[in-house]
Amino acid sequence: FTVRAGAYSDELVKTAKTIASPGRGILAMDESNATCGKRLASIGLENTEANRQAYRTLLVSAPGLGQYISGAILFEETLYQSTTDGKKMVDVLVEQKIAPGIKVDKGLVPLTGSNDESWCQGLDGLASRCAAYYQQGARFAKWRTVVSIPNGPSALAVKEAAWGLARYAAIAQDNGLVPIVEPEILLDGEHGIDRTFEVAQKVWAEVFFYLAENNVMFEGILLKPSMVTPGAECKEKATPEQVAEYTLKLLHRRIPPAVPGIMFLSGGQSEVEATQNLNAMNQSPNPWHVSFSYARALQNTCLKTWGGRPENVKAAQDVLLVRAKANSLAQLGKYSA
Ligand code: 13P
Repeated sequence: FTVRAGAYSDELVKTAKTIASPGRGILAMDESNATCGKRLASIGLENTEANRQAYRTLLVSAPGLGQYISGAILFEETLYQSTTDGKKMVDVLVEQKIAPGIKVDKGLVPLTGSNDESWCQGLDGLASRCAAYYQQGARFAKWRTVVSIPNGPSALAVKEAAWGLARYAAIAQDNGLVPIVEPEILLDGEHGIDRTFEVAQKVWAEVFFYLAENNVMFEGILLKPSMVTPGAECKEKATPEQVAEYTLKLLHRRIPPAVPGIMFLSGGQSEVEATQNLNAMNQSPNPWHVSFSYARALQNTCLKTWGGRPENVKAAQDVLLVRAKANSLAQLGKYSA
């Protein structure tokens, strides 16, 4: 076969398969400093480097985490940071058999000429940053762009999102990092589940069109989609079975089986909802590993339990393990509340 991923192609396939291994998923802990500040403010803590370090030390060193978590996405600060006891965060993850990943996009800015939509920056200098992140121990990357249903989405915004993801994915693969492709379709809005489905079909069609055009090797990528749900402000709610039915229909229509793993974001769902929805999707065999890459749905209770107090670290780690284990069971289709 001809694949363009060059020197790294075998390694990319192996990395992607390891991350997409049975009963495991991704811990997203790559909040930018601004977002991390909001999380810390919710427990009354200042957004200092020391507080971010204390919290992330708690996460990466939770005993036994690697049984349920195969990869952890880090913000750049954490990739180069040590734990509070002076070990490199990256080394602690590797000891736990968790692959270190890195958020490489530079965030969202207004998309001129659109309907108040945004685009994602970060392609300039991306190749050299990816090479440096690989040197530092990262083995996969994430690029998150967003699509808003209430604001359109305009054809321009969808095309820009898809093209940016495809350029990023090609560059990440060239530098040994498995790209997580994340066009987040935001939950906000009053629309019903059929409208989300329609938009998701359009978005993923374009994403795969441009991934192919950029010669991205599908065996060496991971996807991070939003589940197909009604808008957050929609009066009609969907059951986990409905979410699973719509989401799997979307995946079957749009995602080639060459892609090893589908790692969903939680996007503002509650911890239990995110677990139940994932479990519903794993009630029958799928062509891809269908799993999680949650930030809030793994961390919310953990963060609250910690509350910034050293004496609560163990209890907070226990809570993180409870969520990680529940989602691991959901990946295997064996979760019950
Ligand atoms: P949530 O699971 O909190 O949506 O975050 C996942 C993520 O990394 C979004 O980019």
